[in-house]
Amino acid sequence: MKNPLLTPLVLVAGLVSSGWVAAQTPPAAAPVPAEMQQMVKAFTPEMRQKVMALSPELKATIMKLHAGHQRRAKETTLRQVMHEILSEYQNIASAVATDNAEQAADAARRLANHRIPKGGLLPYFKLNQVNNEDLSVLPAMNTAVEGSALKLAEAADAGDMPRAASYMSDIMTGCVACHQKFRGVPGISANLMTPVSK
Ligand code: HEC
Repeated sequence: MKNPLLTPLVLVAGLVSSGWVAAQTPPAAAPVPAEMQQMVKAFTPEMRQKVMALSPELKATIMKLHAGHQRRAKETTLRQVMHEILSEYQNIASAVATDNAEQAADAARRLANHRIPKGGLLPYFKLNQVNNEDLSVLPAMNTAVEGSALKLAEAADAGDMPRAASYMSDIMTGCVACHQKFRGVPGISANLMTPVSK
């Protein structure tokens, strides 16, 4: 009598030898940076899932962006950090307007090296924007804001205030681009029939 177990076994053996099984087995997950593993522990399951689904390249990019900033907040939120950044921007404007190169350079470097909010940047983004496509713009935003701030500091160090002044608009262009994509108009009222006119 035919052994009923034999047929599936032969079938499996055949699939393995043909390489079919290997092709269907998902590739081993890319190693997640240790700091990111630690970070996602503080996230809700929904946010953790979104972050873990990001490409290994984007995960590495985000951790590199974090690593470029030495100051870590204990309790400060992204919105609070943003208000700090705005204060630094105003500080730079004040310095440029009064030909104070040292103040301009210091404030610009503080802006570039802003605090990283509690939990990192990611948990403050909308869940539906935590994906490879939307977050891929982050390095460009970073270059516009922080790269220009560092250039401003260098120009101020060199005593070239007209050049320092020219970077103010590059910085703000980066702020605006990121807000258009990830924030929108702050403080929209839930109690108005037409909360925003645009
Ligand atoms: C990486 C993207 C990004 C960049 C770059 C960025 N912001 Fe923001 N900003 C945000 C997000 C997201 C929020 C909303 C945070 C929240 O409400 O949790 C925000 C909020 C703010 C707020 C708070 C508004 C409120 O609701 O009280 C201010 C002020 C602000 N940003 C200023 C700036 C300035 C000034 C710059 C440039 C020097 C800048 N931001 C650059 C993403 C960005």
